[in-house]
Amino acid sequence: IERTFSMIKPDATRRNLTGAIVKMLEEGGLRVVASKRVWMSKRDAEGFYAVHKERPFFGELVEGMSSGPTVVQVLEGENAIARNRELMGATNPTQAADGTIRKVHALSIGENSVHGSDAPETAKEEIAYWFSELEIVG
Ligand code: GTP
Ligand code: MG
Repeated sequence: IERTFSMIKPDATRRNLTGAIVKMLEEGGLRVVASKRVWMSKRDAEGFYAVHKERPFFGELVEGMSSGPTVVQVLEGENAIARNRELMGATNPTQAADGTIRKVHALSIGENSVHGSDAPETAKEEIAYWFSELEIVG
């Protein structure tokens, strides 16, 4: 059984979509084994998205991620990393498949409602950044 890290981004919490998104994840076969609301500082957002720091949209990304509450979560399930990304849909909602979270809820490529780890190493790092083992209850 695999674990992945998931975020419900400020554009979605602001629109009161936390429950709707969790429902899509649960119906997609994933289980929430840890969850909390955080308001990221700019420094948190810069650190979290450091791999993108040279990209032209970095400033906008950091602004968006520190503009309101984010729900950080650990999801568990069979092939959880790939499954979560499948349920999320493509980064750009105009390219996301029908029925995916981003197709249904995202506003734009910048305000795309959810994040999911892209590989086992990043899942491990991202989970460890936000949660202690004691906070993860399977
Ligand atoms: P995450 O799960 O958030 O990491 O999304 P991803 O893995 O599908 O995309 P990626 O890691 O390439 O980009 C991280 C985030 O940066 C995306 O989720 C977007 O919110 C944002 N982003 C990526 N490309 C663009 C872009 O061209 N313009 C803007 N404004 N934001 C972008
Ligand atoms: Mg990514």
